[in-house]
Amino acid sequence: MIKRIALSLGVLCLVVFGSFIWFQKESYPDQLTTHIAIEIEPEQDSYMLGFQNIQSEINEQAILQGTFPEWLEGDLFFAGPGRFEINDTFTTNWSGGLAMIHRWSIKNGTVTYANKFIENEIAKKVIERGSMKEPRNKKSWLSGLATALFSDAPIYDNTNTNIMKIGNEFIAVSESAHTNSFDPCTLKTIGHTQYKDEVDCHYICAHPLFDKEKNEWINYGTTFGARCYYKLFTFKPDSKERKIITTIKVKNPAYMHSFCATKNYIILIESPFRVNPYDLLGANGSFIECFKWRPKDKTNFIIVDRNTHKVTTLNTKPFFFFHQVNAFEQNGAIVLDLVTYDDPSIITSYTLEKIFDPEHPFDDSRVTRFTLDLETKAISSSILQKTTTKVPTINKNCCMQPHRYIWASGTDDLYNYTNQLKKIDLLNKKEKIWQEKDCYTRDPIFVSKPNSSQEDEGIILSVVLDARKKQTFLLVLDAQTCEEIGRATITHPIPFTLHGKFFKKRNL
Ligand SMILES: [Fe+2]
Repeated sequence: MIKRIALSLGVLCLVVFGSFIWFQKESYPDQLTTHIAIEIEPEQDSYMLGFQNIQSEINEQAILQGTFPEWLEGDLFFAGPGRFEINDTFTTNWSGGLAMIHRWSIKNGTVTYANKFIENEIAKKVIERGSMKEPRNKKSWLSGLATALFSDAPIYDNTNTNIMKIGNEFIAVSESAHTNSFDPCTLKTIGHTQYKDEVDCHYICAHPLFDKEKNEWINYGTTFGARCYYKLFTFKPDSKERKIITTIKVKNPAYMHSFCATKNYIILIESPFRVNPYDLLGANGSFIECFKWRPKDKTNFIIVDRNTHKVTTLNTKPFFFFHQVNAFEQNGAIVLDLVTYDDPSIITSYTLEKIFDPEHPFDDSRVTRFTLDLETKAISSSILQKTTTKVPTINKNCCMQPHRYIWASGTDDLYNYTNQLKKIDLLNKKEKIWQEKDCYTRDPIFVSKPNSSQEDEGIILSVVLDARKKQTFLLVLDAQTCEEIGRATITHPIPFTLHGKFFKKRNL
């Protein structure tokens, strides 16, 4: 009996002590892990070219067609997965590919393209191992706790998701706490970004929002542990000191790829796609695989007052979303435009196995407007756009203000990758589309014309894969008409990127 009590007390101490340590230690699993050896034979003239390894680092002048506006000078940076395979082993998910930075420089009537792999700990580990594959043995959470406590868990720094700039420092980010700074001229990795604060989140959103009026970035992160928290923080454009503005305790954190903000509120949208933090300890797969869809639960809008930090939670029927379009306040309500899905199956539809299966459809999505009445607490919703819409953008001057136009990628065939760029006019309920045979699109980026007075006065930049010609080009569209005004082509297909930003007139 005494032995049993002693043993129980011992285990209890281990759990309490371990949980305490784990709370402060990064221990969630490596997102690159792979457990299937896939027989991949991608079609050579389809969108599948955009999901293949790029072997070389390139720096070349592009061939110009059409007219690039004289006022358009600057650098367009993207982050994305560039290497998916090593020695016939593959990443499970496209987004797990090794990080690469891409730059399109527009200057003095020329366009040059350059890319470079990010040198990070994950890439070193994969290359040393000679395999994308890791042993995958299901652990109990207790053994996972022991691993977290007594082994050096690799940090996740495969920053292939977005680009940021703080002061003069260019930074590639993923959804991890670890970001990589890089030289914008050579694209060489400088190393992990050194923040001057104590933000201790394990997950950090890769889509921070900029509040032009307050001249500050807003972002949120999640801390996993015996107790989990969402942490909202802000930082100035030239400061690496991030200030936590509020902390919200949560039992089972949700996966939230982006969030919304208005002049007076920050809104976290918690779909019922949640994780039991103890499953992260026992897991030996990817981070996202630990999250479970709970269709009987609701989607919560966690509304944080930016002045008082008071938190109000409203909820509605379950939906999943990845990207927000914009949010603003109107007539005592918060209006949010989101690209929504019925469920999180989009996550599994981007495994390489499914991408290379022509019988498997890609995900469908809608732009949905939610109106949260702050007085009555009522939520209403309406579908703004019924055709498939992905990676939306707006004129950033409208961020946190009512917007009329949305530019996005789209498709006319769910069995094909995104093959359209479109402009959605919310006022006239009209859509303009750019499309070219065998060409595949990613994020449109809106650049406003200097001294413009119209919301849509400017151009759209987008990197397009021409699968038939096995080339990639930077496309320039008139943002008003959605018609092509120029393109800059390089003689290689390059992998699809995730997200990026345009920085005006910078002499690199
Ligand atoms: Fe994203």
